[in-house]
Amino acid sequence: MKLVINKVGLQGTIDIPSDKSISHRSIMFGAIAHGTTTIKNFLRGDDCLSTLQAFRDLGVQIEDDGNVITVHGKGFSGLTATKQAIDVGNSGTTIRLIMGILAGTSFTTTLFGDHSIAKRPMNRVILPMNQMGAKCFGHDGTEFPPITVEGTKNLQAIHYQMPVASAQVKSAILFAALQAKGESVILEKEKTRDHTEDMIRQFGGEITVSGKEIRVTGPQQLKGQEVNIPGDISSAAFFLAAASIIADSRIVLNNVGLNPTRTGIIDVIKQMGGKLTIEETGNKENKAGTLTIETSELKGIEISGEIIPRLIDELPIIALLATQAQGTTIIRDAEELKVKETNRIDAVANELNKMGASIEPTEDGLIIHGKTSLHGAKVTSYGDHRIGMMLQIAALLVKEGTVELEKAEAISVSYPAFFEDLNTLYQ
Ligand code: S3P
Repeated sequence: MKLVINKVGLQGTIDIPSDKSISHRSIMFGAIAHGTTTIKNFLRGDDCLSTLQAFRDLGVQIEDDGNVITVHGKGFSGLTATKQAIDVGNSGTTIRLIMGILAGTSFTTTLFGDHSIAKRPMNRVILPMNQMGAKCFGHDGTEFPPITVEGTKNLQAIHYQMPVASAQVKSAILFAALQAKGESVILEKEKTRDHTEDMIRQFGGEITVSGKEIRVTGPQQLKGQEVNIPGDISSAAFFLAAASIIADSRIVLNNVGLNPTRTGIIDVIKQMGGKLTIEETGNKENKAGTLTIETSELKGIEISGEIIPRLIDELPIIALLATQAQGTTIIRDAEELKVKETNRIDAVANELNKMGASIEPTEDGLIIHGKTSLHGAKVTSYGDHRIGMMLQIAALLVKEGTVELEKAEAISVSYPAFFEDLNTLYQ
């Protein structure tokens, strides 16, 4: 599709769509808890709809009146074998987290997805699940999907030092640990998003977290709850970037979730010299806020180490920010970007360089030389929603020519109304 270019100044207010990570988990927790869970502000993006369908396939009754979603949970043992393999679409969160839930069932399930899912590394989940007593394996002796999970009612607790910083892997182990006998101890490589830990507590479970060490004793029974999901900071990030780098802009973003394990983008924008104000609206357990962002002069910075998992999904849009900052930005310790929906290190460098940026891909990140002016080009999202949205924001900087985006439809994975919301900001 042809992207919008050459608009001056973005002004307005956006209600940020709901958090993708919490939406997935709200269905999962509703399904494995006993009793009714009601979910307000569920994200109806393709990925979360894959999770919803997966649990219907597993025999869970889930109603959607277009507003509230109601999940009738019957506990872990209420799940039933599917008639066919489960299709997770493009969703890494669905396939990885579900493996932890299926590990404790008494049946066998196969999980498959699209071209991108077929390339996502799964040993990171397969190995700990097998260590706990389940039998998980990939396609044709590989670690790649389709994945088969042979569950066991005899799951054992695990002591696990995580080799990667991954909330998906941690969450799969936590779901299995809730069903295993005894105390499981997980040591994270770096602290990653902690929505699963929060929701174990919210659903009446017990979990102890001390720095990077997490302890759960199973088996546990959870109880259905009312869940109200805040906006996704990862979706807000595109407007935070757009307002910062497009002259004469000011955007207000309502109801943005501000869980501290997710707010690395805020730290980066401030460090680069962005004009951002935050008015907190949530409570202590569920931090949220209204963010107001204005155009500013930015400077290049270094981004590495423990902040990386706090902004892992925002690195493509941060790279675009860096093309408009004075000086060099260096992103390190982000090799996980290579195994996202696409190789985001290569995708960012290839596509933005086609538009005139000066970006060097490295083994574990990107070196971005600013400030560059961008021009029209034919670009692709590689079927990756976050690359697609980043390229539309990049297109807004183009003064001449056209930007043609291939595979724009991928954006509906996390933000189906992205183009409509963006449209409301033109003066
Ligand atoms: C997610 C964890 C992250 C993130 C993904 C969502 C989650 O993946 O990139 O978009 O909801 O747990 P990893 O766990 O692979 O880092």
